[in-house]
Amino acid sequence: MRVLSIVGARPQFIKIAPVCRVLRQRHEECLIHTGQHYDVDMSDIFFEELGIPKPDMNLGIGALSNLEQVAQMILRLQPAVQAYQPDWIVIYGDTNSTLAGALVGRALNVPVAHVEAGLRSFNRAMPEENNRIVADHVSTALFCPTQTAVENLTNEGISENVFLVGDVMIDALLQNRERAGDRALTAYGLTPKSYFLATIHRPANTDSADALRAILAAFEQLETLIVLPAHPRMRKNVEAHGLTLPANVRAIPPVGYLDMISLTSHARLVLTDSGGLQKEAYALAVPCVTLRDETEWTETVAAGWNRVVGADIAAIVDGAHQALSRTPAAHPNLYGDGSASMRIVQVLEQL
Ligand code: UD1
Ligand code: UDP
Repeated sequence: MRVLSIVGARPQFIKIAPVCRVLRQRHEECLIHTGQHYDVDMSDIFFEELGIPKPDMNLGIGALSNLEQVAQMILRLQPAVQAYQPDWIVIYGDTNSTLAGALVGRALNVPVAHVEAGLRSFNRAMPEENNRIVADHVSTALFCPTQTAVENLTNEGISENVFLVGDVMIDALLQNRERAGDRALTAYGLTPKSYFLATIHRPANTDSADALRAILAAFEQLETLIVLPAHPRMRKNVEAHGLTLPANVRAIPPVGYLDMISLTSHARLVLTDSGGLQKEAYALAVPCVTLRDETEWTETVAAGWNRVVGADIAAIVDGAHQALSRTPAAHPNLYGDGSASMRIVQVLEQL
């Protein structure tokens, strides 16, 4: 089998790592990095830490508007796909790199496999929601992490070649959790369960000065050390909006995956608008407060480990207090057993 895989943004490097490992044991892979994320701490570090093979090609897209990013990616992907002639194009998640890969595969009649299919926020203002809907509707194989995702696809009339395989981010987590260990405690001078961990990067929370100001004000009211690995979109917007971080918020540059897993596992609470981090917090049994109005990972909320509070000061503070005082006793396995990657490769072989 000849597989052309397309990634470009931080969460996709984490998702592809376990799949790549299985795939390359018995198949040929051409790995294309769109260049959507390009800083060393947003890209290279994940390839190094997770042993992801060096991309065969980097399209060098970089910081552009959503439309320009997708357009440039499509133009540069087309000749690469035509030259490699893959049996499958594999795309991950919901970024602009996902959308571009999906459209190019469809247009060139190469079957597309979508890893993390069927996720929905039902908020069409998010670019990711459009990306994933289009990607799902043009894909030939749909790999869902949850039953909810399968049902979302059924509701949109997609039922052929839909596979419930579990979540590849859990594969990555289980493969690296031990290796991550306590490394972040030493690196950042922290003690276990003495701090909260936060990340903020969604346009709704960073491009909007009001939302970002409210989140930071809520953080201040929590009166606990908050370690905040700062996504470049957040860092640039704090500056652009003329905001200052409260004294209890310790912003650090984006960290590598091992430090992030280590930081998460020892945190008392996670506050985030990230998709991946909500699941990791759950898997590591750390309560989470989600700084958005909705989540795709509804199982974490139903299980009582995640509270969706938006960017409202009182709701964030209240959500954090509730999360700390009412941690559920039960912690069911929601996202799989760490074999999602193996199942994905097996299904691709059978198809
Ligand atoms: C993208 C994805 C989002 C995902 C996130 C993960 C889309 C539409 N969005 O959002 O779904 O959750 O990645 O982190 O695909 N920048 C740098 N250095 C980098 C990368 C980005 O400075 O290495 C800055 C650039 O100024 C850029 C901004 O961050 O304009 C945003 O980057 P972009 O890739 O457009 O979107 P993200 O917010 O990262
Ligand atoms: N992550 C990381 N370093 C950081 C912040 C996040 O390694 O400084 C990891 C995080 O643990 C998760 C993934 O990046 O595995 C999530 O990516 P992000 O929040 O950028 O995107 P999303 O999941 O929201 O699409």
